[in-house]
Amino acid sequence: MLKITAIAGDIAEVEADAIVVNLFEGVDRPGGATAAIDSVMDGAVDSLIRRGEIKGKFGEVGIVHAFGQSRRVAAGIVAIAGLGKPEGFDTDRIRGVSGEVCRALRRLNCRRIATVLHGSGAGGVEPQASAQAITEGALLGLYTFTKYRKPEHEDVAEILLVVKEESVVPAVEEAIFRGRATAEAASLARDMVNEPANHMTPSRMAEAAVSMAAKHGLECRVLNREDMEDMGMGALLGVARGSSQPPKLINLSYRGDQESDSALGFLGKGITFDSGGISIKPSEGMGEMKSDMAGAAAVMAAMAGIARLKPHVNVTAIIPATENLPSGTALKPGDVLEAMNGKTIEVISTDAEGRLVLADALCYALKLGLSPVVDVATLTGACRIALGTRYAGLFANDQSLADKVLRAGQATGERIWQMPLADEYREQIKSEIADIKNTGERPGGAITAALFLSEFAGDTPWAHIDIAGPAYGNKESGYLVKGASGFGVRTLIKLALNEAKSREVT
Ligand code: BES
Ligand code: MN
Ligand code: ZN
Repeated sequence: MLKITAIAGDIAEVEADAIVVNLFEGVDRPGGATAAIDSVMDGAVDSLIRRGEIKGKFGEVGIVHAFGQSRRVAAGIVAIAGLGKPEGFDTDRIRGVSGEVCRALRRLNCRRIATVLHGSGAGGVEPQASAQAITEGALLGLYTFTKYRKPEHEDVAEILLVVKEESVVPAVEEAIFRGRATAEAASLARDMVNEPANHMTPSRMAEAAVSMAAKHGLECRVLNREDMEDMGMGALLGVARGSSQPPKLINLSYRGDQESDSALGFLGKGITFDSGGISIKPSEGMGEMKSDMAGAAAVMAAMAGIARLKPHVNVTAIIPATENLPSGTALKPGDVLEAMNGKTIEVISTDAEGRLVLADALCYALKLGLSPVVDVATLTGACRIALGTRYAGLFANDQSLADKVLRAGQATGERIWQMPLADEYREQIKSEIADIKNTGERPGGAITAALFLSEFAGDTPWAHIDIAGPAYGNKESGYLVKGASGFGVRTLIKLALNEAKSREVT
């Protein structure tokens, strides 16, 4: 496990394989720790800037070897991290820089890395905020999924956050703790999503929830097929009919406020593999549909993070988990299902299965009295087309809840863009034979999917985050790596922390 600690002192004197300082783009004279290192190295950094070798561009990692220099710098490598232009500098930039620098130094076989707190000087960022962002960026940027192969590089063993004053060390240590709890939760979600679908079945998800509950002192209850039948969850059961893997409905609860019986509800789409069912998907790229439980992984992992950070609020996670497969018993286009609230649904496409399982999960959440409810789902290809792979779409029936989600997203660097819950399109999901049908027209597909869900949210404040774009990626950049991103985990944790804070003052 990567050790991250805070120490006070002069970074030039820290015994490490590499030290990390930084540079803003467009600054021709380095300041702060960078200037100090430059002068110890007889102007080596300055001359590299002058030669245009180091520009301070965001994501750039300039390397200066300091082996010879009469060892006035204790480390053998000095890395100069590009912070980008000063305008618009924020903590998410620090996360990205941290991820890039750590990966670059891992490639150079560095095991022990010391860094300054990026942005805490000229950048105007609080030391704690910088420390938390560096911690998150390092843990997320160095993340690898090597369960089924050998790692390419040896792991970085230790990162030292070097501060000037001994007095800020405790606050920085606390920030490291928060960053670790947050990033490890996101990494847990990545692990679950990267796991192939033959391993991460609905039953395995349920087992993971049970062991998470035991580890973190959460309450966990798993509903089986018979329980779902008793409760009339016809939509969830309809999707599960094609698979021989039994469906599970996972209920994980964190009680941070024993006096209150209200609780936030976090819902996650848990399709452990989405073949499309009888409305089968093209085979090319279908393997990526093991990631169709990324919403479920996000809410489960957020619960682990919340359990470690202990906000004064209650949170319950609800996860409908099943495979979506074709078979002789599978759901068919034209079938009519009845959800737990008695609404009947005409199935136009068996590939629009996420909204079916979430319909029953929403009914169940409402029955438990959860409010507000936030669902996270890899719901539509349309949302991915609309917003690309960095932005999630947000839909809500309550603007103050939407604003809270947007604010939490902004704080964590998870990009969330609000989309309209357009009443004009509601007629698209009217059915001739049932109360509602499960698809509309192709244009605006993310909106009609959200409208479908809204029919099951009733008057409860509800927000829906469509993460089909950012859940899974094929690019390595900043603190993002290939494969699962863990998107949503950090926003949900932040939402719970903010909710606890806002309730404290009222
Ligand atoms: N899981 C998919 C959505 C998806 C697509 C997620 C690409 C991630 C990447 C969802 O179940 C689905 O198949 N949606 C259909 C809906 C359509 C049939 C109305 C889609 O988007 O094509
Ligand atoms: Mn589908
Ligand atoms: Zn799906």
